[in-house]
Amino acid sequence: MLKRILVGLLALAAVGLVGFSVFAWRPAIGKIAPPAPSSFAPDLIARGEVLAGAGYCSTCHTAKGGQPFAGGYPMKTSFGTIYSTNITPDEKTGIGTWSEAAFRRAMHEGVARDGAHLFPAFPYDHFTKLSDGDVTALYAYMMTRPAVVAPAKQNSVPFPLNIRALQAGWKLLFFKPGRFEPDKTKSAEWNRGAYLAEGVSHCGACHTPRNVLGAEKHDKAFAGAAIDNWIAPPLTAANPSPAPWDQAELVAYLRTGVSRYHGVAAGPMAPVVHDGLIKLPDADIHALAVYFADRDGAATRASTLAPALQRAVAANRLNVGPQNDPSARLYTAACASCHYNGAGQPNPLRPDLALNSAVNLDDPTNLIQVVLYGVSAKDGAPGVVMPGFSRFSDADIAKLSTYLRATRTDKPAWPNLEKKVAAIRAQGK
Ligand code: HEC
Ligand code: HEC
Ligand code: HEC
Repeated sequence: MLKRILVGLLALAAVGLVGFSVFAWRPAIGKIAPPAPSSFAPDLIARGEVLAGAGYCSTCHTAKGGQPFAGGYPMKTSFGTIYSTNITPDEKTGIGTWSEAAFRRAMHEGVARDGAHLFPAFPYDHFTKLSDGDVTALYAYMMTRPAVVAPAKQNSVPFPLNIRALQAGWKLLFFKPGRFEPDKTKSAEWNRGAYLAEGVSHCGACHTPRNVLGAEKHDKAFAGAAIDNWIAPPLTAANPSPAPWDQAELVAYLRTGVSRYHGVAAGPMAPVVHDGLIKLPDADIHALAVYFADRDGAATRASTLAPALQRAVAANRLNVGPQNDPSARLYTAACASCHYNGAGQPNPLRPDLALNSAVNLDDPTNLIQVVLYGVSAKDGAPGVVMPGFSRFSDADIAKLSTYLRATRTDKPAWPNLEKKVAAIRAQGK
C-alpha cells in the first residue's frame, strides 16, 4: 500500500516536472546578422537615447571604469550577485545577433534570445509596460552603439536558484506582462507621468518594498524601501518630511537634484537624476511631478507647509549662543556653520535638517550615510559641498543623530544608533 502511494507520488512529481518544463520552455529566436547602423532613422535613434537615459540602462549595464553598456556591473541581491550583461551590438558577447523581436521579448517578457528566463534584477517587470514604438526606438539606439567585446561575468546565485527555468515559477506568481494602460479618470499629463514612473524609469524598483522572493508588493506601491544600504523614502502620503512634496518641489528635485525645502538627491538617487532623468525633456519631468504630487496628496497637505517652515527656522536658533548640552555643542561645532537658516526662508544650498527626510524617516540610515560620507560635489548643489565626517567616532555620530532627531522633529528617538553607525561604516562607501 505504502509502496503504491510512493510510486503514485513519484509519478505525480514526474508529471509535474515535465509539465513545468513545458510551461517554462521558451523557444530560441534565430540569430541575425548585426543590422547596419545606417538602417536606423536618426530621429528613432534620438528617441531611443532619451528612453535609454530615462531607463538608466547605462547605470546598470556599465561596470565601474568599463565601456558604456558592456555589462559586468554587479547587483547584490539577497540571492547572490547578478551581473548585468553586455548589451552592445557585439556579435559574440553582446546582443549583435538579436533581432528586434528577440529584444522586444527580453524587454516585455524577460526572456533572452536563446530562450533562457532572465532574472528580475533586470527590471523587465517594469519594461513590460513600454509601448512597442518605444521598444523599437530603444532597439535602434542600442544597435547603433559601438560594439564592445566583453564576455559575461559569472553570477554567484546558488543552486537551485540559478536554474533559469525556475524563473518561470516566479513570473507565474509575481509578473504581470502587458503594456501600460492609461487611467481614463486622470489627465493626459498624469498618465504620461505614470507611464514613465511605472515603466521605463521604474521608480518603484527602489521605492516599493519587496517580498521575501524579491517581488515588489503592488499593494504597497512607492511606500518606501531599503536599497543598496540606503532608504528610498515613501513617495506617498506617508513621506515623513513635514513639508509636502508638491509639484514645484518635485520638478526642482527631479530636474536639478536640489529642492529648496527637501535637500538633495544623494546616494542611489543621484545617478537617477544626473545620468538618467537629465535626458528627459522638461514636459516629462512635469508629468512625473504631476503624477507623484497626486499620489502623495500634496494638495491636501498644502496648509502644513507654512507652520513647518516656521518650526524649522525656529529650530535653527537653538544653536546660536553658548551650548550646555554636549550633543548640541557637537552640532554647533561641526554642522551649524553651514546648516543655518535663521533668516526666514530655507536656503537650498544648506538643507534645513528639520525638513529633510533623512532626519524624519523611521530609519536613520540616510542621515548616517550623509554624515559619514558627505555628498559629493558631483551629486549636490552646484558650488557647495557637504563634507564627510567619517573621522567622527560611532558614538559621536550616534549622539549627533539623536540630538537632531530630538530637536528637529517630533518623532520617536532612533534605537541602537551606535550599532547602526558601526554597521553602515563596515559596509563601506
Ligand atoms: C537595475 C539594473 C538594470 C537596468 C536599469 C537595466 N538593466 Fe538590462 N539587465 C540587467 C541585468 C542584471 C541583466 C541580466 C539578467 C540576467 O542575467 O538574467 C540585464 C539584461 C538585459 C538584457 C538581456 C541581455 C542578455 O544578454 O541576455 C537586455 C536586452 C537588457 N538588459 C536591456 C536593457 C535596457 C535597454 C535597459 C534600459 C532601458 C536596461 N536593460 C536597464 C540590469 C538592468
Ligand atoms: C536606484 C534606486 C532609485 C530609483 C530607481 C529611484 N529612486 Fe528616488 N530615491 C532613492 C534613494 C536612495 C533616495 C534617498 C536619497 C537621499 O536621501 O538623498 C531617493 C529619494 C527620492 C526622493 C526624495 C524623497 C525625500 O523624501 O527626500 C524623491 C522625490 C524621489 N526619490 C523620486 C523618485 C522618482 C520620481 C523616481 C523615478 C523617476 C525615483 N525616485 C527612482 C532611490 C531611487
Ligand atoms: C561645509 C558646509 C557643511 C557642513 C559643515 C555640514 N554640511 Fe550638511 N550639507 C551641506 C550642503 C551644501 C548640503 C547639500 C548637499 C550638497 O549640495 O552638497 C548638505 C546636506 C546635508 C543633508 C541632506 C542630505 C540630503 O540627502 O538631502 C544632511 C542630512 C546634512 N547635510 C547633515 C549634516 C550634519 C549632521 C552635519 C554636521 C555633522 C553637516 N551636515 C555639516 C553643507 C554642510
